[in-house]
Amino acid sequence: MKYGTFDDRKREYVIDRVDCPQSLTNYLGTQRMGAVISHNAGGYCWLDTPEYGRITRFRPNGLPTDGPGHWVYLKDEETGEYWSVSWQPAGGEDPTGYRCRHGLSYSVFECARNGLEASQTLLIPREADPGTDPVEILDVRVRNVSDRERRIGVVGYVEFSFHHISFDNENFQMSLYCAGSDYRDGAVICDLRYEEGEEEFFASDGMPDGFEGTRDAFIGPYRTERNPLGLERKALTGTVEKGGNPVGALKRCLALAPGEEKRVLFYLGRGGEGAAARARAVYDAEGCDRALEELRRFWEDKLGRFRADTPHENMNRSLNLWNLYQAEINVLFSRFSSFIEVGGRTGLGYRDTAQDAMCIPHAEPDMCLKRLEQLLHGQVSAGYGLHLFDPAWFEEAGDRDSASPTVVPGMDASRIHGIRDACADDALWLIPAIVEYVRETGNTAWLETKIPYADAGEDSVWEHMKRALDFSYAQVGSHGITKGLRADWNDCLNLGGGESAMVAFLLIWATEHFLDAARNLGRTADAEAYGARMEGMKEACRRELWDGEWYLRGFTADGRPIGSHTAEEGKMHLESAAWSVVSGTATPEQTERILAAVDAWLYTPYGLLLNAPSFTKRDDGVGFITRVYPGVKENGAIFSHPNPWAWVAACMAGQGDLAMKYYDALLPENQNDRMEIRQAEPYSYCQFIMGRDHSAFGRARHPFMTGSAGWAYYAATRYMLGVRPEFHSLTVDPCIPAAWDGFECVRVWRGAEYRISVRNPEHVQKGVVALKVDGRAAEFIPVFREGVHDVELQMGKRKGRNV
Ligand code: GLC
Repeated sequence: MKYGTFDDRKREYVIDRVDCPQSLTNYLGTQRMGAVISHNAGGYCWLDTPEYGRITRFRPNGLPTDGPGHWVYLKDEETGEYWSVSWQPAGGEDPTGYRCRHGLSYSVFECARNGLEASQTLLIPREADPGTDPVEILDVRVRNVSDRERRIGVVGYVEFSFHHISFDNENFQMSLYCAGSDYRDGAVICDLRYEEGEEEFFASDGMPDGFEGTRDAFIGPYRTERNPLGLERKALTGTVEKGGNPVGALKRCLALAPGEEKRVLFYLGRGGEGAAARARAVYDAEGCDRALEELRRFWEDKLGRFRADTPHENMNRSLNLWNLYQAEINVLFSRFSSFIEVGGRTGLGYRDTAQDAMCIPHAEPDMCLKRLEQLLHGQVSAGYGLHLFDPAWFEEAGDRDSASPTVVPGMDASRIHGIRDACADDALWLIPAIVEYVRETGNTAWLETKIPYADAGEDSVWEHMKRALDFSYAQVGSHGITKGLRADWNDCLNLGGGESAMVAFLLIWATEHFLDAARNLGRTADAEAYGARMEGMKEACRRELWDGEWYLRGFTADGRPIGSHTAEEGKMHLESAAWSVVSGTATPEQTERILAAVDAWLYTPYGLLLNAPSFTKRDDGVGFITRVYPGVKENGAIFSHPNPWAWVAACMAGQGDLAMKYYDALLPENQNDRMEIRQAEPYSYCQFIMGRDHSAFGRARHPFMTGSAGWAYYAATRYMLGVRPEFHSLTVDPCIPAAWDGFECVRVWRGAEYRISVRNPEHVQKGVVALKVDGRAAEFIPVFREGVHDVELQMGKRKGRNV
């Protein structure tokens, strides 16, 4: 069953059955202001941080779901009938006539009812001029398709939030008396008494015909947003009050002749004196159209830097649009705002941010660089990363403030957590992320930039990388394998002094990236020293972790193996299976066995299980994973993030058919017709999909905020299509299904555009036998820095140079 379709030309997902089992979300905002919005216009927005900068309220896990929202009501002033432009909250039981179109950084809600066609577009313009106040626009159009003149009330409605999310949800004896409303210059103002100078406003492009500033006045007692008193009364009452629950409700009355269309713009924003008037002036109808066009150009530019034209329609759709969009949203908003992550955290998760930044430096070089520098500053001088930290701690502004008369004892000002809370993988991800950034941009000078450590001292970026490596090479257990510490990539595998194969393999992979940089930059002493350490770790892994069928996942602190083929549960783990190959530790024979075992134990039609069979017995030596329900999240679900690791492994083994089989299983776009099972966005990877050991096998959960977005993009573009920037050349080394005749793609790299055409006449899965650049046979693809260049590759059986 499906609820929507892809409109590739408009770059939209069109939901024409709005009664889908779960909300389908989208993200607005590309700079400071952000919003997460459902296909029914439910959701919330914030400025800078969803934890400290909340503008509108969300009732997490509430009923009715996904409210409140940024809603618009229509009222027929003759009959008194009213409804909302989005199906929720006041569209009644029947969703007929409603539609939602989610586009790139905007969403459109449409309805056709009672002789009127209406639409509401939500967008957050880019702040072209740094002086512009951030604002969200609700762009409403109403057309009279009946044959009589109509008098229609258009009411925009938002519920304000206290800025600090915890404060908004607790201690009402304070928070209900420090936020209040006012009405000035045609705008409802929400001010927070404890926070000087901070005001929210809700305004419209023309002077309103009525307003409310309190929830009690607009919604009324014993009612909800489905049947607000404000729409049943003849007119709004113009109530404002200091204290209570401030809202912004504004009414505009329209007279519409038959066939006539009118437009009303509402603005929601934060700013000082005159902000509403400025919003009106900048974003009149023309300004609003311009803002939407700017957003379109913003995405057009990013999407144009890599475009795939393969025989696989959904792969093209994903890589050229939705996958990159999702990956970008993770880099922009970090991971802390969705309907699941409801904004109770601020800052950066170390490992998540490093991986997000690693995967899309071509589309987001500036933002990726900013994230890398924040992470480098979040690294302690001992080498590990602060697992979860707020870059603001280290910036001039210092701590984020949430003023309140309530006495809350402060925490240790140093903010530095000890090794007890260090995760063994965090800082290791930084190394490939740094090296990928340099390969992308050629900015080798940046490696000399001095960046402070979180606790004491400063070093060049290069030395920061060495600290991370030194830390991991020193943190080894009794088998000579790296310790798991508080957790490795898997938050629920808590090995402490036990050993983690995943971290050992990641350390090897990170060192490979470091060595590539060292060799290219002439840092021979580092290349030799770290090369030797890496070989030592590889040997230890081969010696201690090979279990006859695959590599173990690790050892508990008391020396018990985890992930052995002889175990009854938690036998096989995707992380260690994939990374043993990706790190180059597994021999070719071992790789064959491992990939066959992955297929036998972990493959499902919805993707690869994280481990199988799920754990059923609690074992705190292994960790929290054994306390999670079987088939859920880290215990035997299809955890999406590590799935692309297996695609990379399959590509490294030359198995393009296998890589595509796994890619196809996870690809959200492939699930559009199975929405009754998936129950989540078919345009977004989800954190996990219920596994075989769960009754809801196949149900996807937690869209958008997941490392699978970046990794899926990284694995598909760099390993399946094989386009990889190096220090001094561009590699194209595809690993594709044998059935493909070839594919084409465009890659913008260091100022030049490469038009790549791959032919596969012998129907191999991997292997390049001939290369031409700009029509001439070539040994490699150089850095051109400008112009448009043709790259022609032929794949074939003859063992050729992989260029
Ligand atoms: C979540 C976390 C991520 C972790 C993963 C596996 O996605 O954000 O950091 O690696 O779970 O536990």
